Amino acid sequence: MKGIILHGGHGTRLRPLTHTGPKQLLPIANKPMSQYALDDLKTAGITEIGIIVGDVYPEKVKEYYGNGSKFGVQITYIYQDSPKGISHAIRLCKDFIDNDKFIVYLGDNVLRKNLVEYTKKFETSDSDAMILLCEVNEPQRFGIAELDSDNPDKIKKIIEKPKNSVSTLAVLGIYFLTPKIFDIIDNLKPSWRGELEITDALDMLLNDGNKIKYDIVTGWWKDTGTPEDIIHANKLVLDSLGTENQFLIDDDSKIKDNIVVGKNTEISRDSIVIGPVIIGKNCKIGPSARIGPYASIGNNCTLKNCNIEDSIVMNDCKIDSKINLSNSIIAHGSEIEDNPKKQFLLGERSQLRI
Ligand code: DAU
Repeated sequence: MKGIILHGGHGTRLRPLTHTGPKQLLPIANKPMSQYALDDLKTAGITEIGIIVGDVYPEKVKEYYGNGSKFGVQITYIYQDSPKGISHAIRLCKDFIDNDKFIVYLGDNVLRKNLVEYTKKFETSDSDAMILLCEVNEPQRFGIAELDSDNPDKIKKIIEKPKNSVSTLAVLGIYFLTPKIFDIIDNLKPSWRGELEITDALDMLLNDGNKIKYDIVTGWWKDTGTPEDIIHANKLVLDSLGTENQFLIDDDSKIKDNIVVGKNTEISRDSIVIGPVIIGKNCKIGPSARIGPYASIGNNCTLKNCNIEDSIVMNDCKIDSKINLSNSIIAHGSEIEDNPKKQFLLGERSQLRI
């Protein structure tokens, strides 16, 4: 089986963070979100992976993943000129997939449980597709599956972001497919949002009399569409620090209880780190810093006098301020310092709530 990771799209709801790179490279617990997808595929035994890159800095994706050898996989890049829909992206992979079953993983989905069991189930089944479902509070934000009330083993309908839904079962962005989907996509019409939807393709597959299996996921699942989602995903991942080490990125990091500290990072005696926290390498923490709980600090950061919790600070940031940061995302290379004149140099669409 091969795998496909969707790394295109514009990430508009995550601006300004996505002005300088694709959203799927934004870090969650110091690991780009799409690497959770790649690691899940690899753990499930899938090492031939196609990455769909779009028109937002595709070179940054290639620079990070390369040919995949650093990650123990083999990567083929497939270009999508503009985000014309998930089904459109999948259709571009027809030659890459050839005639085998395959898994499509949206690069902005993070799942607690790995895919080993689901992959085995799909490999040995005669289903034409398999989807994963999860109970949600806001069905209007997701693709939704309605089960047959007479036979709950059967899916009755799959619909994209319904305004009024009888079901609260969201379809995760992880799809187990067979090449049958390509012919279906060829007959698909763009939706109201102008995209070739994966949910429409799956619904058409059902209506053509094909079998779609489903499983309800246990444990959390996160679609990281908004800054709030990213901060929440960061919290969920950090909660498993120390118990599920697949979330650790560096082999030379030190881990004690639920605190991970990278190589060459120094923490001053008068600073406090309250787990769960992950701190990258070559950082200087202190004097008088309080980090955590639920903070992810990237590499090469200098953090003095500040209080940081429930937040993500990316690589190369400098903070020297008595500031209290919570529910914040500070992008690569940002600087914050106390200054009586209150000077700001903020990028396009920055958000500042003081
Ligand atoms: O996260 C699960 C949801 O993902 C499903 O419940 C929905 O049925 C499915 O349509 C999708 O909804 P979103 O509105 O969240 O999709 P979004 O436009 O955010 O795209 C999902 C990912 O796929 C994202 O990482 C960007 C990438 N993408 C998207 C499009 C439309 C591409 O690579 N190419 C595209 O053309």
